Amino acid sequence: MKIPFSPLHVTGQELEYVYQAVTSGQLAGDGSFTQKCQSWLEETIGSQKALLTNSCTAALEMAAILANIQPGDEVILPSFTFVSTANAIVLRGGVPVFVDIRPDTLNLDESKVEAAITPKTKAISPVHYAGVGCEMNELMTLAKQYQLTVIEDAAQGILATYENQPIGSFGDMAAFSFHATKNIVSGEGGALVINNPTLVERAEIIWEKGTNRSQFFRGEVDKYTWVDIGSSFLPSELTAAFLWAQLQQAKEINQQRMRVWQQYHKAFEGLELASKVRRPCIPTHCQHNAHIYYLLTNNVDTRTELLARLKAAGIQATFHYVPLHSSPAGQKFGRVSGGMSVTNMTSDRMVRLPLSASLTVDQVDYIIATVLDVFNAKSTLTEAYR
Ligand SMILES: Cc1ncc(COP(=O)(O)O)c(C=O)c1O
Repeated sequence: MKIPFSPLHVTGQELEYVYQAVTSGQLAGDGSFTQKCQSWLEETIGSQKALLTNSCTAALEMAAILANIQPGDEVILPSFTFVSTANAIVLRGGVPVFVDIRPDTLNLDESKVEAAITPKTKAISPVHYAGVGCEMNELMTLAKQYQLTVIEDAAQGILATYENQPIGSFGDMAAFSFHATKNIVSGEGGALVINNPTLVERAEIIWEKGTNRSQFFRGEVDKYTWVDIGSSFLPSELTAAFLWAQLQQAKEINQQRMRVWQQYHKAFEGLELASKVRRPCIPTHCQHNAHIYYLLTNNVDTRTELLARLKAAGIQATFHYVPLHSSPAGQKFGRVSGGMSVTNMTSDRMVRLPLSASLTVDQVDYIIATVLDVFNAKSTLTEAYR
């Protein structure tokens, strides 16, 4: 059996909508499919404005411009994240300040954020890892106290909630991803949602290459011109048409992923009770979206063996992430605040298992059996994960 890490799941409507976009003659962005997707995001997240982008990376870059990050400004973020969270800051001349993560959710440790704040701090960028909400109450209180902009990296967070409130609705802005590896996909794709009404007008301008074209289309100005910095952040209607088919089925897709996630979670309970692995930890006030299923092994050797055995069995599993503070660019452009022990330990021990709405019960059973076999064959697992 060959099982890819993230098999594509389609709803069946994608090609019909792409066909409609082609026959309508509107291939450039900001057409009717873009509008539908944006309205869905605005209603679902409760945001003032949603703008589709070519990627979450692009949405984070827009957010850094909107947050007015200037050379030397500092932004607090976890080191345990994808490069785009930090790159967006560095592209503006800002300095990413890396803070450790919580051992349970693997999200930015809110109790360590205040110590990282300096007079240069401009923003906080919490990452909702695996679609599990960061401790937004504490983070928003700190942001208010120190007048910091909050840019949620909600790349993995579609339809997840924290205290019954959608992820992506807390900060001034939030960036989502519709990359092929995410729950809801359009190949490459993303969105910036804006919750702070004072940022909406400038966001549209940055999105439209620094012009007031959106205002022109609404008839608010009689010609459009270059008014600010910006770039080509909006995707084509082909991407939006594909995405619209996925968004219409978003809840069902997440339910299917949850079925897979629960199958793993139940099967590995015994391994956790025997202190052989640590399973994902979901606080009761967070509703996650089954974006990632991971296991934390007790040490790097077990992780290496588990990945090798899965590969030999035709199962594509991966690790996550090489911590940014230890990467060449992270050391060049960023700085660390406090210790990084949880980040380092997590990065050494994580194995992510395949997850998709398309995985069958039998495929998941096969993956589970392969993992269990690795642990039953080993007798020297001692050091429990702490
Ligand atoms: C936390 C996080 N931020 C940003 C990104 C970038 O998303 P995209 O590939 O849509 O640019 C990812 C993608 O994996 C991510 O996991």
